[in-house]
Amino acid sequence: MPEVRLQKALAEAGVASRRAAEAMIVAGRVTVDGSPATVGQRVDPEHQAVAVDGRRIGTVARHLYLALDKPIGVTSTVNDRHAERTVVQLVPTELRRRAGRLFPVGRLDRDSEGLILLTNDGDWGQRLSHPSFGVEREYAVGLARPLTRPEIEALLTGVRLDEGLARVVSLRDATAPETAKLRGATELGPEGLTWYRVTLAQGWRRQLRRMFAAVGVPVARLVRVRIGTLRLDGMHVGEVRELTAAERDRLGRAAPPDPGTRTTKRGLVVSLDGPGSSGKSSVGAGAARDLGYRFCDTGLLYRAVTWLALDQGVDLADAAGLVVLVPDVFLAADADGRLTRVHVSGRDVTEQVRDGRVDRHVSTVAQLPEVRAALLPRQREIAESGRIIMAGRDIGTVVLPDADLHLWLEVSVEERARRRAAERGLALDSPEGAEILADLRRRDEVDSTRSTAPLRVPEDASIITSDGRALEETVVAMVAVIRAAESRVGRPNDGAPG
Ligand code: DC
Repeated sequence: MPEVRLQKALAEAGVASRRAAEAMIVAGRVTVDGSPATVGQRVDPEHQAVAVDGRRIGTVARHLYLALDKPIGVTSTVNDRHAERTVVQLVPTELRRRAGRLFPVGRLDRDSEGLILLTNDGDWGQRLSHPSFGVEREYAVGLARPLTRPEIEALLTGVRLDEGLARVVSLRDATAPETAKLRGATELGPEGLTWYRVTLAQGWRRQLRRMFAAVGVPVARLVRVRIGTLRLDGMHVGEVRELTAAERDRLGRAAPPDPGTRTTKRGLVVSLDGPGSSGKSSVGAGAARDLGYRFCDTGLLYRAVTWLALDQGVDLADAAGLVVLVPDVFLAADADGRLTRVHVSGRDVTEQVRDGRVDRHVSTVAQLPEVRAALLPRQREIAESGRIIMAGRDIGTVVLPDADLHLWLEVSVEERARRRAAERGLALDSPEGAEILADLRRRDEVDSTRSTAPLRVPEDASIITSDGRALEETVVAMVAVIRAAESRVGRPNDGAPG
């Protein structure tokens, strides 16, 4: 077995999550070949003796991937003192023993039914439940009465909830065969209710129940019938089954939405590039909020790799040493489902990656073709399910040259420096202000002259200028450009994968 990071080896052996394993290492509880271990140390667990509290760990516990048809009244937490029954308890003892620690992927409310996944593979579970992965979930929604046209329109255009604008990807009448199939898959059978099929890409707490309640029609029954490519079909209530390798792999790749269930416009893939401190994150996230799009700030990936390298003392010129850090970095969603946070080995380091030290070194790291290549599939995966604004430096030119719309945010370097200085309560003509201006000029220079993926305006980009405009004005301008593009290219879905 090749060498892996110690915390990964511990997690794979089912000892603890990577994060908890790190804590065990720091606490001095872990040894490798009898010597105290360090976080990040590379080990070959088959040939080296890795021990926790003096007891040698086994080699890799087999990963298990389970689908479960959850009945009403069962909670999807691992341990809930108040819960009478949890999903984990529905798993046969033998499977539970084999799995070590088993946990549900995402949630399904106590009073909801249907498909839920369980695994002991933390990385797979985390990726799949991340909004960044854009895995769609489809629900059979049972209502006491049919929806009116205005109610349907309200649900499709979006309902304001505390987290932001809640939208469904699609909403349609359920067909008779679909509803008949619910018999057996659920305890109660579908009788007496009007059934709809709703697809969701966002995943806020009790989102569908709150959305339907907001338009005045409470949900009577909620059955999850699909997660990405995996359907509930053929399962009966309470059943647990192992996924086939093909099912697991298909799910692990971002699941393309099922064209048959989509009746709304698919939403565009929008690239947003521009120089440092041009406000791409604030403007892009604002536009995404108003459009019900996802938003992703790719600069965080480069920042996190840089921060991690500085933290672990990795030489910033050592491309190979930097590339191995990439798998530890994950973008995470904020409360609105926008990918504006970054996690390293499960820890939120968004604040840390914005510090001055990272500012000074990140362009050096971002110049390295190896680092860029390692981050490329990550970014494409995130964009794959569409309806996203992805911000960075080379999104339109390299990461998503085929995006539906390329945007460029234009702001003079003086204006950018003025804004940065103002954020810190400084004037541009102060010595510190001058330093900020010089630093931005230097970063522009490095970003635009590097040989791999230099910063440049995509050929067909729509240019949005923010000089002299307030943030909200620029957001409005961007929303208008995207709406115009939607009506050009965002024709009703014709079955083309997102
Ligand atoms: O947007 P930002 O300042 O957070 O970006 C941080 C650094 O990462 C910056 O030096 C440019 C680099 N970057 C890049 O090269 N390509 C991207 N897609 C995003 C950021």
